[in-house]
Amino acid sequence: MDAQKITAATVRADFNDPLAVVHYARAAHTLGLWVSERILIERFFPDKAAPLLEAGCGAGRVTVGLWHQGYTNLTGFDFAEALVEQARFLAADRDARAVRFLVADATDLETCQPLAGEVFSGALFLFNGLMQIPGREHRRAALRELHRRCAPAAPLLITTHDRNCSPVERAMWRLEAARWARGEQDARLVEFGDRYFEDESGRTFMHLPDRAEILADLDATGWRHEFDALRREIAPEPPAVRAFSDECRFWVVRRNG
Ligand SMILES: C[S@@+](CC[C@H](N)C(=O)[O-])C[C@H]1O[C@@H](n2cnc3c(N)ncnc32)[C@H](O)[C@@H]1O
Repeated sequence: MDAQKITAATVRADFNDPLAVVHYARAAHTLGLWVSERILIERFFPDKAAPLLEAGCGAGRVTVGLWHQGYTNLTGFDFAEALVEQARFLAADRDARAVRFLVADATDLETCQPLAGEVFSGALFLFNGLMQIPGREHRRAALRELHRRCAPAAPLLITTHDRNCSPVERAMWRLEAARWARGEQDARLVEFGDRYFEDESGRTFMHLPDRAEILADLDATGWRHEFDALRREIAPEPPAVRAFSDECRFWVVRRNG
């Protein structure tokens, strides 16, 4: 029988799995914002009263962290209900009840009634959440949806992996390219750059792009590039953050007119 391709439903089920819920809830309770995130948020989101939208908020690590940095008008959403429930618990526990958490799919915000007619001054999709959407067209759909929800010139902060971030990565992806050329890749994968793996935190789908791919996707969906850098170029992170998440590239873009 043919292996089933990974879909949004696969990813959503994986994030609702108790193993993943415990993993992200623990990070939300113990890690909070990374040093690199704090630096970029302070630099590119200077107005703490502005309405901000966090896509893929998970168990609330970033949104509740922002609240404690003094941001007062925050909405986080995620399509995994079990994680949104954890985010609400965290907000109640940390005196951040004014933070709004919604269940919504980043590729289809039209159907999220509470967001109807709202315009945000900035948006975030952190810890590679955008790259956990299978299929390039779907990732572009999410970028278009965030564009629709943001005011002109609003900043968007995202992270992705980078297939070229080290010699080891480059060597690994050369081997993977050869597997795809022979048709021997994991049949569940949708595109070159995809990975689907399992560890103690559950099953994870991730698309690992190169820089050119992201620049093209941002350009095609109405976002103007302003900044990008690898995390290690922004700030050294403590061991607990490095254990939770490997190297990534931060991107700051602005909504075109
Ligand atoms: C790596 S987790 C990051 C969670 C949280 N932002 C953090 O940093 O701890 C990525 C999140 O993106 C969410 N996500 C992935 N695809 C999504 C989609 N299409 N719509 C909404 N959320 C999505 C997942 O459910 C997951 O909570």
